Amino acid sequence: MNAPVVKGLAIQAPAYVKNQKLIAWVAEMAALCKPERIEWCDGSQEEYERLCQQLVDAGTFRKLNPAKRPDSFLAWSDPSDVARVEDRTFICSAKKEDAGPTNNWMAPAEMRATLQPLFDGCMKGRTMYVVPFSMGPLGSPIAHIGVELSDSPYVAVNMKIMTRMGKAVYDVLGADGEFVPCVHTVGAPLEAGQKDVAWPCNKTKYIVHYPETREIWSYGSGYGGNALLGKKCFALRIASNMGRDEGWLAEHMLILGVTSPEGKKHHVAAAFPSACGKTNFSMLVPPAGFEGWKVTTIGDDIAWIKPQADGSLRAINPEAGYFGVAPGTNYKTNPNCMASLDRGVIFTNVALTDDGDVWWEGMEADAPNKALPDHLIDWQGKDWTPQIARETGAKAAHPNARFTVAATNNPALDEAWDDPKGVKIDAFIFGGRRSTTVPLVTEARNWVEGVYMAATMGSETTAAAAGQQGIVRRDPFAMLPFMGYNMSDYFQHWLTLGKKLQASGAQLPKIYTTNWFRKGEDGKFVWPGYGENMRVLKWMIDRVEGRGQGTEHVFGVSPRYEDLNWTGLDFTPAQFATVTSIDKAAWQAELKLHAELFEQLAHHLPQELPATKAAIEERLAA
Ligand code: OXD
Ligand code: MN
Repeated sequence: MNAPVVKGLAIQAPAYVKNQKLIAWVAEMAALCKPERIEWCDGSQEEYERLCQQLVDAGTFRKLNPAKRPDSFLAWSDPSDVARVEDRTFICSAKKEDAGPTNNWMAPAEMRATLQPLFDGCMKGRTMYVVPFSMGPLGSPIAHIGVELSDSPYVAVNMKIMTRMGKAVYDVLGADGEFVPCVHTVGAPLEAGQKDVAWPCNKTKYIVHYPETREIWSYGSGYGGNALLGKKCFALRIASNMGRDEGWLAEHMLILGVTSPEGKKHHVAAAFPSACGKTNFSMLVPPAGFEGWKVTTIGDDIAWIKPQADGSLRAINPEAGYFGVAPGTNYKTNPNCMASLDRGVIFTNVALTDDGDVWWEGMEADAPNKALPDHLIDWQGKDWTPQIARETGAKAAHPNARFTVAATNNPALDEAWDDPKGVKIDAFIFGGRRSTTVPLVTEARNWVEGVYMAATMGSETTAAAAGQQGIVRRDPFAMLPFMGYNMSDYFQHWLTLGKKLQASGAQLPKIYTTNWFRKGEDGKFVWPGYGENMRVLKWMIDRVEGRGQGTEHVFGVSPRYEDLNWTGLDFTPAQFATVTSIDKAAWQAELKLHAELFEQLAHHLPQELPATKAAIEERLAA
């Protein structure tokens, strides 16, 4: 029963796999992709170690010096496969308008016809791994199940860290549970006798989502969000569709707990665009002046948030690990992260030291003498020295180099991180990377104003996605690359949810917008950021508690200098003015950009948003 045979290839599902729909789908995909063999992953430690050794033998992994970095590996990708490929990412809804103007779209039938020949025989000579995973605590009412079929053992071992992966998922799935089918290939079939390369991939890439049938098809890339399909593809693009249909939220947000010295705890969910410090913020260490305060991590990248009968919002982190950006991470910027990385890590595209450890740009910043290593092998396998770097600008680590590590490695992990009930959200933060214009922190006066702030958020682009960096683009809700349907319908979804929560009489979470990234005339960041962000976080918690003071301005409420705790930090009122000032001309120009965004999103744009804009303009003109 569990062993259909596809052209001589026995599917042979283990006896504990009872879901016939799953077995039939695996058989169908095997018939199409034509792998040499199928391996049903059980998620065991033995399996993880065996696959890691296999990756070492294949030259994909290098085992790091166990005395320096136990149980850890380093992979270097093909230089053409280093980031998410937004221009190759498609939302194939039946109607184009349902994908909206911010997504690439192709009609499902046309996309299926395009992918069919690419997937036909795409896994020849390779193993198809069947990777069952739960996004969220196993069996949680907020969690959902996916199964990824991939011809990449690198994907299988990363999924083991990043999700609750393995046998137990089948118990939750049962005989007729629902799962999101995710199929992934590196798109590099091996002909008989052909030798494999260390990082197989294909220059043709497709990252495809079918929202109506809740399917994900990924072709040609082995890297990050292109290949670990539980993350951006499922937990954001497909889940945002599920959330719209079922009345909940799938957000590009970290979740943290903040506990006061008196033991009072709040939870905050915060959206920042890729590589803007979400992992750092989620693991924040309170600075001097905040003795007794504690920040704990529930998640660093994605939040699934479901409204409850009492009008509260409860959130889980659907992931079980962190796939974070390594460059810039050090004991000053994120000590908890550095401690997390001391064992059991898969590094991708960082540099290798002569003693078999890893290195990346910024790692030296916390060393007393800020010494660079004398010699490294860079992420492309070439010699690197400080002199070569000075002369050529060569980076030892790729700017989007990553670590994959289990959440349980994090010393600041919240005790409720795996709680199936999730945690109650008290505040949302939306933060862009803006060197000008946007002040340090602003509180929305109401839900609609908060949705406006989130919808019009702009940010300077980073290395997390292929393409030019440092350009300001509108990134509504930090969801631009991850939205699975029409952006304006998503704004409406947030507004409708707010109305529903309000009607229940519950206190709505407060909404803030932040910008840690304003620069001074010297082109340097003015706000110290990192742990010092606690000063802003504390102000938000004070406001949630109804006691924080502030001053009202054209688009919300911000703290005055005297409203923040400055103990332990030398930050002058003049510096504070540099990061909080609201320049009328700059805001008039900014509002023009909001107007452009609204023009682009005119189809189904909720009228509350242009109305909020008009009110800001009026106040600005007054
Ligand atoms: C990520 C991203 O990898 O946002 O989290 O790009
Ligand atoms: Mn992200």
